[in-house]
Amino acid sequence: MPETPPPLLTAQGLTKSYGPHTVVRGVSLEVARGEVLGLVGESGSGKSTVARMVLRLVEPSAGSVHFDGIDVLHAGRAAMKTVRRRMGVVFQDPYGALNPRMRVHDILAEPFQIHGMEHLDGMPLEDKLHAMVAEVGLEPSALARYPHAFSGGQRQRINIARALALRPELLVLDEPVSALDVSVGAQVINLLQHLQRTHGLACLFISHSMPLVRYLCDRVAVLRGGELVETGPVLEVCEHPREPYTQALIAATPSFAAAATPVN
Ligand SMILES: Nc1ncnc2c1ncn2[C@@H]1O[C@H](COP(=O)(O)OP(=O)(O)OP(=O)(O)O)[C@@H](O)[C@H]1O
Ligand SMILES: [Mg+2]
Repeated sequence: MPETPPPLLTAQGLTKSYGPHTVVRGVSLEVARGEVLGLVGESGSGKSTVARMVLRLVEPSAGSVHFDGIDVLHAGRAAMKTVRRRMGVVFQDPYGALNPRMRVHDILAEPFQIHGMEHLDGMPLEDKLHAMVAEVGLEPSALARYPHAFSGGQRQRINIARALALRPELLVLDEPVSALDVSVGAQVINLLQHLQRTHGLACLFISHSMPLVRYLCDRVAVLRGGELVETGPVLEVCEHPREPYTQALIAATPSFAAAATPVN
């Protein structure tokens, strides 16, 4: 049997308490290279808290996070900067995430400047920026404009372009389309799927929608009240959910496939 390579991301026993309230308890999960793991659960179940602990934006009360062998929670400044370069992130709110006073050109150039990677790929920065907006389906003229000049879906495309700028190996997506109209969201999901496949990206995809997770993910972890209740290959969990909670999540949202018919 061929040896299974170690997972790209491993979280073990992640726990977060705020005062007396434990909002995430003992969550362990793994994401292999190129794999899409869905993290699903109702509002308040702790999905964003898990994502933020993985990204070390929230300090866990207990547990560990390893990214390609790096102990993320104990990484020093330099190691942490490397981890941040290798993990991209897109949040739910396409409006809040972009600095309204910066042109898209500068928003997309910023990661290269922060990490001193203007020469990535040996391509001039301007060429890279043009390729980036094209890759997410925007016109080159988008570079000269400010975030307010875009729709929600277009802004989320800009956020995706920025998250992918430095060629991360893992993308953390926290409800990236739940603020968008269904049809616009479906187009963004199709874009994400296309980018995931072309770049062989590993993803931690957070959603409250089982049909969406089924459409996009390889495996799924189901979170209820801060604890994982069910984990497995997405089709297995969707076809034969063991937990009534998972069954309820599946029943709660209509099928995604109809809305997600590719448009291009
Ligand atoms: N900074 C904080 N201080 C106190 N409680 C918090 C804090 N952040 C989150 N919580 C609580 O932790 C619980 C989990 O929140 P979290 O945002 O992780 O849920 P979620 O699954 O992402 O929900 P949603 O689907 O609405 O985004 C909630 O009860 C929330 O009120
Ligand atoms: Mg959330």
